[in-house]
Amino acid sequence: MAVLVTGGAGFLGSHIAEELINMQYDVVVLDDLSGGFLENVPGGATFIKGNITDAEIIKQVFQTYEIEYIFHLAAYAAENLSHFIRRFNYENNVVGSMNLINAAINHHVNCIVFTSSSAVYGNNQLPFHEELPPIPSDPYGVAKFAVEQDIKLANMMFNLPYIIFRPHNIYGERQNIGDKYRNVVGIFMNQILQDKPMTIFGDGQQSRSFSYIKDVAPIIAKSIHHQDAYNQVLNIGSDAVVTLNELAANIASIMAVKLRIEYLDTRHEVKHVHAAHEKIKKIFGLFAETPLEEGLRKMFNWVKQHGSRTSKDFEPLEVTKNLPGVWRKRES
Ligand SMILES: NC(=O)c1ccc[n+]([C@@H]2O[C@H](COP(=O)([O-])OP(=O)(O)OC[C@H]3O[C@@H](n4cnc5c(N)ncnc54)[C@H](O)[C@@H]3O)[C@@H](O)[C@H]2O)c1
Repeated sequence: MAVLVTGGAGFLGSHIAEELINMQYDVVVLDDLSGGFLENVPGGATFIKGNITDAEIIKQVFQTYEIEYIFHLAAYAAENLSHFIRRFNYENNVVGSMNLINAAINHHVNCIVFTSSSAVYGNNQLPFHEELPPIPSDPYGVAKFAVEQDIKLANMMFNLPYIIFRPHNIYGERQNIGDKYRNVVGIFMNQILQDKPMTIFGDGQQSRSFSYIKDVAPIIAKSIHHQDAYNQVLNIGSDAVVTLNELAANIASIMAVKLRIEYLDTRHEVKHVHAAHEKIKKIFGLFAETPLEEGLRKMFNWVKQHGSRTSKDFEPLEVTKNLPGVWRKRES
């Protein structure tokens, strides 16, 4: 019996895989390394390099291993870039997920755990709570919501048990700081390491709640042991809200550099992301919330050891109309 973690060479997936190994599960990681790194895969996991859109690979994995649970994290989560790569976004994040849902049904897995996103809420009323009707405001959010809906249909039709998490803005060790399209904490740290100003779209007053990885990953991993979590949609993450200006100041202080921000033109994005967590607290009890400064310090200690990362342009872009200027430049 084994647990399949798709995207297990990535940030969140590798931490969840590690937790599952500590819980004595045999872990199989399936990842195409498009955004993850082999060195992230925890020792003790079986690694298979493969793309979830490849139905043949999924078939082979399920023929080779008796998969008891699926943790499905593989996705390209560049929310704001998804407007410009809609076909890739839907193929990778929706069609790929369908291969896993089919396999979960056909092989009678005990539960599929899916990391959706608070992106499904779009510009909804605050705080986002699970009963609000989703109104995603970008293709990435649409993809996540489509997968959620399909998982629910698989549950209705075939009794496939599921747990859907909607995380938001997780940061910490092993996050890819070299992706210029996503993860503002990593982008800021990488820019500072490269002696560049931190770039912010708009006035920096947009607000987010940042969650430290080690507060979130254990809960997702252990959720399969919580019957109350089954067939539920759960927000997960911190309650503490900060603006991007505050985040930038915090990171500059932790990295002991002068605060330098370059404000870019506003882009189309959700202004405030603030989720309610009553539902998850009811099931799992109160859980640790690492203060932002402490979590950022821990991440920076890891970042220092690994150094800055080169950022590549995403290719091919499918739409260039309204592409933020900063994403037009070729830069390292
Ligand atoms: N990090 C966050 O703040 C956050 C917030 C909400 C939701 N999520 C979701 O959590 C999951 C993990 O995100 P992350 O931040 O760890 O990202 P990540 O990029 O570090 O991890 C994703 C992993 O999936 C792999 N992958 C992507 N497409 C693949 C494909 N077609 N086939 C096989 N592997 C593929 C990548 O190589 C990478 O290792 C994603 O589904 C993301 O949408 C993350």
